[in-house]
Amino acid sequence: RFASLRRASALIASAGSRGFATGVPDRKVAVLGAAGGIGQPLSLLMKLSPYVSELALYDIAGTPGVAADVSHINSKAAVKGYAGEDQLGEALKGADVVIIPAGVPRKPGMTRDDLFKINAGIVRSLVEACGKHCPKALLNIISNPVNSTVPIAVETLKKLGVYDEKRVLGVTTLDVVRAKTFYAEKAGLDVSKVDVPVVGGHAGVTILPLFSQAVPNAANKLSEADIDALTKRTQDGGTEVVQAKAGKGSATLSMAYAGALFADACLRGLNGDPDVIECTYVASNITEVPFFSSKVKLGKNGVEEIYGLGSLNEYEQAGLKAMMPELRASIEKGIAFAKGE
Ligand code: NAI
Repeated sequence: RFASLRRASALIASAGSRGFATGVPDRKVAVLGAAGGIGQPLSLLMKLSPYVSELALYDIAGTPGVAADVSHINSKAAVKGYAGEDQLGEALKGADVVIIPAGVPRKPGMTRDDLFKINAGIVRSLVEACGKHCPKALLNIISNPVNSTVPIAVETLKKLGVYDEKRVLGVTTLDVVRAKTFYAEKAGLDVSKVDVPVVGGHAGVTILPLFSQAVPNAANKLSEADIDALTKRTQDGGTEVVQAKAGKGSATLSMAYAGALFADACLRGLNGDPDVIECTYVASNITEVPFFSSKVKLGKNGVEEIYGLGSLNEYEQAGLKAMMPELRASIEKGIAFAKGE
């Protein structure tokens, strides 16, 4: 993040010295659920982003305080807090990217699907407002269960007649962040130089890290048992945090970091940066299910291109097959909810 801040300020400085008055374009970002465990540190990180000129912080309550606090930081984004449903439209108007971490988190013993009852309705009503007030914005859906909330968002926008498949993105970046951390640690690599694609969905066995495609390749250092343990740890990373927090919620700080990385990637794409590639859960036809996370290219309109899975080894092929029933069921559950079935 600091490297990207430095890069951006170097960019602006060099443009200035060549006589251009250009920096990065003005961009508005809205965070819905900004007073929550994820929302607060995510708002802080977006305030530090060189790509944000206006930051709208929305929650049902508590946002005036968060906004006043964050607004004192001497970075460029102008910050405003919005509390309560009657201010939601104002918060969304003109937004380029809307990040949604609103909803309840898991407690020990809960699966992400246990959150469905509460979070499905929250996501539907917030996405409805996005469809009305900022239909062109890129939506970054963090609220769980992502495997179902993204289909809910899509169906909700379809009903409003404003759905654009390039603009609804489920945030799975934390799975990538975890896979990179665990892989680098185990293989003794510099984590800043490591990349690991993670595909599928965002819950348990639907999370599939592709260590055979990891860069750098450390196959000679890791046994099959190591890869199996790394895969399981990535799949259970969220539960590791839920258990350690012992009833006080799920990942918030690492999620805020991952959410900010992903939102920055969306903004860089919108700004015309040519090489922005991230894993994200989107409407997709690269597998037999209608939503899937894989590497995509982010550009001026959002998702510009969805990449295939590349070659998978036997272990990964088995993982892909094993996830399908759960992923399909979660997708169908989301669609049925949004259609009111
Ligand atoms: P939290 O309970 O600390 O915060 C949630 C916030 O949402 C609260 O401030 C609450 O007031 C707000 N909220 C509830 N209903 C709202 C509405 N209708 N409009 C606006 N705001 C509303 O929860 P936390 O820890 O921040 O988690 C939020 C969500 O993110 C959960 O669903 C959690 O499962 C999910 N999550 C997703 C991850 C991912 O990788 N995609 C990782 C970790 C958590």
